[in-house]
Amino acid sequence: MIPYEPRLHQRQAWEQRQRFNVLVWHRRAGKTVYAINWLLRQILECTAPNPRGAYLAPQFKQAKRIAWTMLKQFTLPIPGCRYLEQELRCVLPGGREIWLLGADNPDALRGIYLDACVLDEVAQMAPRTWGEVIRPALSDLGREGQALMIGTPFGMANEFHRFYQLAADTPGWTRSLLTVHDTGSIAPAEVEALQRETRPEEWQQEYLCSFSAAIRGAFYAREMQDAEQQGRIGAVPRDPLLPVHTSWDLGMANRTVVWLLQVHGSQVRAIGCRAYAGTGLPDIVADLDSLKYKWGRHYAPHDAKVRELGSGKSRQEIAASLGMAWEIVPEVGLQSGIEATRALIPRMWFDREGCGDGISALQLYRTEWDDERRGFSAAPLHDWTSDYADSLRMFAVGSQGREPGREPIRYRDKVVA
Ligand SMILES: Nc1ncnc2c1ncn2[C@@H]1O[C@H](COP(=O)(O)OP(=O)(O)OP(=O)(O)O)[C@@H](O)[C@H]1O
Ligand SMILES: [Mg+2]
Repeated sequence: MIPYEPRLHQRQAWEQRQRFNVLVWHRRAGKTVYAINWLLRQILECTAPNPRGAYLAPQFKQAKRIAWTMLKQFTLPIPGCRYLEQELRCVLPGGREIWLLGADNPDALRGIYLDACVLDEVAQMAPRTWGEVIRPALSDLGREGQALMIGTPFGMANEFHRFYQLAADTPGWTRSLLTVHDTGSIAPAEVEALQRETRPEEWQQEYLCSFSAAIRGAFYAREMQDAEQQGRIGAVPRDPLLPVHTSWDLGMANRTVVWLLQVHGSQVRAIGCRAYAGTGLPDIVADLDSLKYKWGRHYAPHDAKVRELGSGKSRQEIAASLGMAWEIVPEVGLQSGIEATRALIPRMWFDREGCGDGISALQLYRTEWDDERRGFSAAPLHDWTSDYADSLRMFAVGSQGREPGREPIRYRDKVVA
């Protein structure tokens, strides 16, 4: 017998389940326990041949830490159950399988079908995870897989909030929001102690499930919130008379992100933001050139000077040979770079359509929660948001103290003004 006795709110969630389920439950409410059991039951009861289930966490290592022990605990009584430790895969009798996956490598999911999928801590996954990878895997004829999205809120600029809103009036979707006062999962005296001891915005977000509380540990949350409230995120058309500056973060394993910016007086207008995965520099430059913009300055990070093993050329040299003269931004350290970006954002306007994921990334770019120290580390979390934030930081630092577009006056290699 599977050792799971659902609590009242878990039982209700199961009874009210639909094809797509969005559960916004407070910390320690029993989300992961519920999700693993939901997944297990979907896969055990699935009548299609070779049922497949997946449990997706923001990062593979998180999936392992959070769900692997729990999955084993609940599947242990099932005779003939096998565990593939390396792949985090649980093979159940009758060709049934449950995989643990990380959204940090969603492409590993391409080309597979799923009968049921859990997305744990959805707010922290790259926005494209659902639309490009998971949703297509749930669409096979005759299988039509189900999904369960769980987590605590993390501001409004992400897919979790969008799903929560979508679920309100979309057929086949259901949602539930439960605060610490609704589930009885934490003893009343402990609830009081938590409220006393946690900071108000943490309490609001983690235990009262508020989507509008300030995001914990996010570097630019306040600046981006101001931008939104002051109407600086909207339609920002390109001014054909002004040059377009670019700001780069160069991906090796991850993506290359390029911001497209125009400067008008003290205003900096982000008219676009492009992300390239697995694309070589020649193709990126060709893509930018196809826009037929009048270019200004191009800001690139220090690692552009590193010579590559194969060609012996640096990427700065390769870019130059493609007609794009990169300026290497001085290394001022991450903290100063973040400060420079904080000073820049209040002068910025964002084109919502052109900048797309870049805006969400700036809203969410944050430090990592350190489980052992039970606090936020000073270093940023390296996930999809950091590529966008690093890229804009190059412009913030590179353009600091001077107006981009205006060349310094040189006299025999000496800058005089
Ligand atoms: N039905 C249940 N029966 C007994 N214990 C349960 C049940 N559901 C949850 N728990 C226990 O409550 C605790 C929290 O559960 P779980 O990890 O699923 O919560 P969570 O909402 O995912 O928490 P977090 O917000 O930290 O991710 C765990 O110790 C778990 O074993
Ligand atoms: Mg959990």
